[in-house]
Order: sequence, then structure tokens, then C-alpha cells
Amino acid sequence: MDSKKGSKAPGSPDVEYFFNSAPPLKGRVQTSQKLKEFVEKIVRSSESGRPIRVVCVTSGGTTVPLEQRCVRYIDNFSSGYRGATSTEYSCFFYKNGCVSIIFSNFRGSCQPYCRYLPHDSFLELFDIAEDSTIKVCESHDTVVKRSIKDYRKAVEEGLLLKIPFTTIFEYLQILQMVATSMNCLKSLGMFYLAAAVSDFYVPWENMVEHKIQSTEGPLDMRLTQVPKMLSVLRKDWAPSAFCISFKLETDPDILLQKADMAMQKYSMHIVVANELANYKKEVTVVTSRGKTKVCSHGKDHDLEAELVDLLVDRHFEHIKKCGSEANGA
Ligand code: PMT
Repeated sequence: MDSKKGSKAPGSPDVEYFFNSAPPLKGRVQTSQKLKEFVEKIVRSSESGRPIRVVCVTSGGTTVPLEQRCVRYIDNFSSGYRGATSTEYSCFFYKNGCVSIIFSNFRGSCQPYCRYLPHDSFLELFDIAEDSTIKVCESHDTVVKRSIKDYRKAVEEGLLLKIPFTTIFEYLQILQMVATSMNCLKSLGMFYLAAAVSDFYVPWENMVEHKIQSTEGPLDMRLTQVPKMLSVLRKDWAPSAFCISFKLETDPDILLQKADMAMQKYSMHIVVANELANYKKEVTVVTSRGKTKVCSHGKDHDLEAELVDLLVDRHFEHIKKCGSEANGA
């Protein structure tokens, strides 16, 4: 059992308790070093007169382990398509070279630059030639070349940093690290929080170590509320950054009301509201100025194109506003 204890009893959605009782993030030192180098490079470019915006995109669902040596877990619905697609459109609408993306995604969820590849990628994509060399099937040649080219370009030019997570513990520790590292970028930073984050969890110290035995009968389990980190992000971790959160509901009658509430309660700049039944076809962008519907125009059209275009505009307005406030205008 972890010796570190938080300040409040389990059951209360307390931020300090969550972090103090979470298992330490594996590879924290390496991730922190990568983040530091990534952000320092951006700061250097910005100081030399080339301001670079940085978008942290979170994508995919988080899991809540039920056992410390985890066999079973609860997870949230999300394929990661929205986050991956939005990452690609962000590079496009900000124009490559003036944006860098920190893409924090659920391991195994959709990746940027891969959406045109067939799902059974490896088995479908390659052929073994007579001389035993492996080659791409002719039918997939164009999409594979394009995906590899776009992906390598993004990574080599320092436009994309990927930080994967699996559990709610990893997700929130990574979000905290990314946000505090991005704080120095002030209003040039944007958070696009599309990940479907668990609302309930089992605190590590309350979790059994070994696999829960079904021979012990029905499972009776009390889950603790995960603290919403959106307010902490806005107030403490990166107060000047531009913040967009998502609101997913299954009941259309409460969706917009819940999105309004989220905007006020967590001081979000924008909340993107979507309903599970049609989230690929329609979202509503909720801001303090009003509500705008963004729709897909057909099977081959991603609504993320219009969505990201609109958000990039709003981010530029935010940067301008913060700049004039700083100059006393
Ligand atoms: O990945 P796809 O299959 O393409 O699906 C995309 C999507 C439907 C998952 C996406 O569009 C979406 O709605 N993501 C947010 C889902 C969600 O967690 O909604 P929520 O209402 O539970 O949370 C609202 C916001 O609070 C989210 O931005 C979430 O990141 C944040 N949150 C949630 C719980 C928590 N404990 N802390 C948080 O900060």
C-alpha cells in the first residue's frame, strides 16, 4: 500500500487526495524531459519573432482499474477519432510551422495521420514479394505513403509530441505535467480536452492487490468521485491558456444546459456539446457569445474541419485580447 496519504477521506472529490494517493507515473522523468525540450524549443522560436501556438489535444477514454494487478477495469466510451482528426486539422488551419501539438491519447486509440489506413492495417497493407521482401499492396500504396510522410514531417519538424495514457491516474498526472509546462507560453497555449475522462474511480489504497475472485459472490463496490481538474487547470496550472472542454450526454434535453453550466462552473472559454447518438454528425459550440452548430456534410466530410477552423479563429482573438490587456489597452 502506498505510504503517501492525502488530506481528505476517500469519497470526497479532492484534488490533493487524488494526486497524493495515485500510483507514481511510470516514465515520469523521461516524459518530463521530453516535454521540457519540446516547450523550450517553442519558446526559443517565439523569442526569435516566430510565435508558435501549442495545442494540447487529449483523446480517447481513460480506464479505472479495479485491482492493483489489474485484470478488470471500467472504461469510458471514445475511439479517439475526434482527437486524432482534430490534431491533423489543427496543423492545417494554424499552418504547419506555427503550431505544435502535444497529443495525449489512450494507448491503442486512433492516431493522427492514420485515419485513411484500413483498420486491419498490417495484414491488409503489406504483401510478401517472391524474393521475400515485404512491400505495400498496390491498392494501399498512396494512403500509406501519405500517412508516413505526413506523420514523419510532423515529428521531425517538432510539431507533434505524443504522450500516451491508459488509466485515469496516468491521464490526470500527464495533464498536470503538460499544463504546468505550457504555462510559460501564456495565451499561445490551447487545451482541447476531447478525452472521455472517468468520473468515478477506486483510490489506489482502497484497491485489492490481486484479481477479485468470482467465487466470493456478487461484487459490491463503492467508487469515489474523480475531482474535475478543469477548474484547477484554469486557475492554477495554465491560467492564461485558451481552454476548450467537451460535454457528452445521451439525453438531448439536458445537453446544452449542462454545457452552459460547465462553461460557467469551470471558466472554460468554449464547451463543445455533443450527443452520443449523433456526435459524428453534429456538435454545438457554446461560448459566452452564443451557440453555433457545426455539422458534417456527408460520409466523407469530417465536422472537425469546420470545428477546428472556428476554434483557431477564437484562439487568435484570445491571444490578441490577452496581448492588449498586458499592454494596458
Ligand atoms: O473519440 P470519439 O469516438 O471520436 O468520440 C469523441 C467524444 C464523444 C468522446 C468527444 O467528442 C467528447 O465528448 N469528449 C468528452 C467526453 C466526456 O468526458 O464528457 P464529460 O461530460 O464526462 O466531461 C466533460 C469535460 O470534463 C471533458 O472535457 C473532460 O475532459 C473533463 N473531465 C471529465 C471528468 C473528470 N473527472 N475530469 C475532467 O476534467
